[in-house]
Amino acid sequence: MEVGPRWNKVAPGIWSRVFGAPETFTARSALKAAPRWEALGEIPDAPFPFDPAAASGEVRGGRTVLRFPLRPNTPVFGLGLQFLRLDQRGRTRYLRVNSDPVQDTGETHAPVPFYVGGDGHAVLIDTARIVTIHVASVVRRKEAVPTPDRTTDPAWQETPPGSWVEAVLAAPGAEVFVFGGPTVRDAVRRYNLFSGGGFLPPRWSLGFWHRTPTRYSAAEVEAEAAEYRRRGFPCDVIGLEPGWHTAAYPCSYEWSRERFPDPAGFVHRLAEAGFTVNLWEHAWVSPKAEVHGPLAPLSGSHTVWGGLAPDYTLPEARKILENQHERAHLAAGVAGYKLDECDGSELTSGSWMFPAHATFPSGLDGEQMRQVYGLILQQLTAGLFRRRDRRTFGLVRASGAGAAPLPYALYTDLYDHRQYVRALCNAGFAGLLFAAEVRGASSPEEWVRRVQVASLSPLAQLDAWSSGTKPWTFPEVETAVRRALELRVRLVPYLYTAFARYQRDGTPPVRPMALEEDPGEARLADDQYMLGQDLLVAPLFAGQTERKVLLPPGNWYDFETGELLEGGGAAVLARPLESIPLLVREGAIVPLMPPLPHTPRAGETVALEVRHYGPRPGRYRLYDDDGETLAFEHGAFRWIDLAVDISQDGVRRGRVEMGPDVGGLVYDPVQWVFLG
Ligand code: GAL
Repeated sequence: MEVGPRWNKVAPGIWSRVFGAPETFTARSALKAAPRWEALGEIPDAPFPFDPAAASGEVRGGRTVLRFPLRPNTPVFGLGLQFLRLDQRGRTRYLRVNSDPVQDTGETHAPVPFYVGGDGHAVLIDTARIVTIHVASVVRRKEAVPTPDRTTDPAWQETPPGSWVEAVLAAPGAEVFVFGGPTVRDAVRRYNLFSGGGFLPPRWSLGFWHRTPTRYSAAEVEAEAAEYRRRGFPCDVIGLEPGWHTAAYPCSYEWSRERFPDPAGFVHRLAEAGFTVNLWEHAWVSPKAEVHGPLAPLSGSHTVWGGLAPDYTLPEARKILENQHERAHLAAGVAGYKLDECDGSELTSGSWMFPAHATFPSGLDGEQMRQVYGLILQQLTAGLFRRRDRRTFGLVRASGAGAAPLPYALYTDLYDHRQYVRALCNAGFAGLLFAAEVRGASSPEEWVRRVQVASLSPLAQLDAWSSGTKPWTFPEVETAVRRALELRVRLVPYLYTAFARYQRDGTPPVRPMALEEDPGEARLADDQYMLGQDLLVAPLFAGQTERKVLLPPGNWYDFETGELLEGGGAAVLARPLESIPLLVREGAIVPLMPPLPHTPRAGETVALEVRHYGPRPGRYRLYDDDGETLAFEHGAFRWIDLAVDISQDGVRRGRVEMGPDVGGLVYDPVQWVFLG
C-alpha cells in the first residue's frame, strides 16, 4: 500500500512527507526545538534533490519500510557518530544507541537516522525507534545488477551495488525530511538550522579541561589545579568524576561531605584561580538520593544498577531533578555536566540499560526511551543554565537526531586514535561534536600525538578519572605537550568565531573535508579535518614521522612556518614530534591570543596577533561578546572586521575595524604577522 500525502515544502530547500500514521513521540517531538527560520531563509532555495515520486513508504505488520533513490557512484555520509567508516554506501546500519560501537554494525553512542548523499542532499527519518537502514546494500528483483561469476571473476562482490536506501522501523509510519544542497555543506547546514542549532558555548569552555581522579577530595583537586598554574600549563575547566557524590553507580547527586565539605567554597576558590567546575553524573537514581522518593512513581519498570530510570519526558519528573540540581549544584557555582552512561550496552551486559520491553509512566517503551535518553538529558541540563542567563558546554555519551542546538560534545571509552579522528569527521555530518579526549598513552610519542588532536577538537580534555595522568606525566615531552595546550588557548578567538558561525548559520566548527565548498580529492579523507573556516588539521599518529594529506584545490600554508603547499592533490608532510600539521588556506586570516593560563573574562584587555597567509587579500570577521551570558541573543555582540590589502608591489597591509564595545574583550594591541 502506497501511503501518505505528497511532499510539503517547509523552508527553502527543505521538504517533509508523512508516510503512514507516525507515532506522536519522535526525536523531534522530544526536543520540541524551533527551527531557525530566519537563518534558513538566508540559504538560497534549492530544487528537490531527487525524483519526488520515486520515494515510497509501505506500512505492513506494524513496520514501516521507506525507500529513497541514490545517485550511482556517490558516497553516503552521516548516520551519527560512526567510528569505523566515513562512506556508509554498501552497508546495512542498525541505528541503535550503544556504548560498544566496536563492531561494524552502525550501533554507536549517537546513531542518527540522517544521511547525506555526496551529491549534496540529505534525508532525516524522524522517529524515536531504532532504524535499520540499508544504504544501497539490498537489491530488489526489478533492479538490474551485474552478476559476475565468483569462481572466475574478481569483480564479484558479496553485496552487489544497489542504488536505493531502504529503511525499516517498528512503527506504523514516519515523517521524513529531505534537505537540498547544492553542496553537502548546504544540506548539513539546513539540517542543523532546522534542528534549531548550532549553539554558542561560553568562551571559557574552549580552553583546556582536566578531569581529576574519581576519589580525589576537594583539597586534592585544588592542589592539582594549582599544579597546572605552577607548571604553566593552561587550564580552564576542572571536571569531577563519580567520587564527588555521596553515592554513585547509581547516583545521589548530593556532595560527599567527607570529600567535599564546602562545595560552594570549593567552586569559589577554583573560580578565583580561573577555573570553572564540571560535574560527572549519570541518569540512574540511587535509593540513597533525596530525589529517589519523589521520582519513584515517575520512573520506568526496570532499574539500572539498582537505580531508578526516571521518565524525564514528564514535566513533573524534570522539575524534581531541576530543583535538586539548582539547589545542590548551580547555586554552588557549578558550570556544567558530564552526562555519562545514558548509552548502556546490551551486548556486554544487560544491566547497563533498561531493556527494550521496559515500560514508562508516559506510555513510552524501553526502545523509544533508550534512543532519546541522551537527547532529553542534554536538553534538561542545558535549560538549567539558560534559566540563569548562563551558557554551558558539557559532555554526553549518548545523542541522536536534532542535537545541533544542544551544548554538548560526545565522548567514548574507546581509545583507537585513528577512530577518534574519523569520529571527529563523521560527527560534523550529523549535527554532533566529538571530544577526542586523552586519558593515557603507552609511550611519550603517543601521548604527544594524542594531546595534539585533543587540543584541536571541539572540547579539549584530559580525562584522568582512572589513569591519574597529567599533561606533564612524560617529562621528556613536556615541552611538546605544553605547546599543544598553548596552541589551543591561542586559537580561542578563532574557535569562538567558528562556534558563532555554527550558531548563526549552521556550519559545523569541526567538520569533514566533504563539507568544503570544493573538497576535490579530499572528499573521502577520514584522517584529516577542517577546524573553523580555514584550518586543515592533518594529525600524525604514533609511529609516523610523515603522512599524506589530501588538499582541496588552491594553495595552502604551514600554520607556523608559512611554507607553501600546492593544493588540488596529495602532499607529503613530515613533522617533528612537537609540531602538529596544521595548514591554512591561502588568503586566510587567523586571529590568535597569547597562551594565557586561562581564557580571559569580559572586560579584560588581551593582545591580538593576526596572521595572514599568502599573496592574496583576505577578510575575516572576528566574533566577540561577553563570553558567558545569553545577551548575544538580544544583539549584545560585535564583529571585528579584519582585512588585508595588498599593494601593486606586493606589500601587505592589515586593517582593523573594532565596532562598538559590547562588554566583551578589549583587543589591544593588534599585531599583524604576514606569512607565506
Ligand atoms: C565511564 C566514563 C569515563 C569515566 C568513568 C567514571 O563510563 O566513560 O569517562 O567518567 O565512567 O566511572
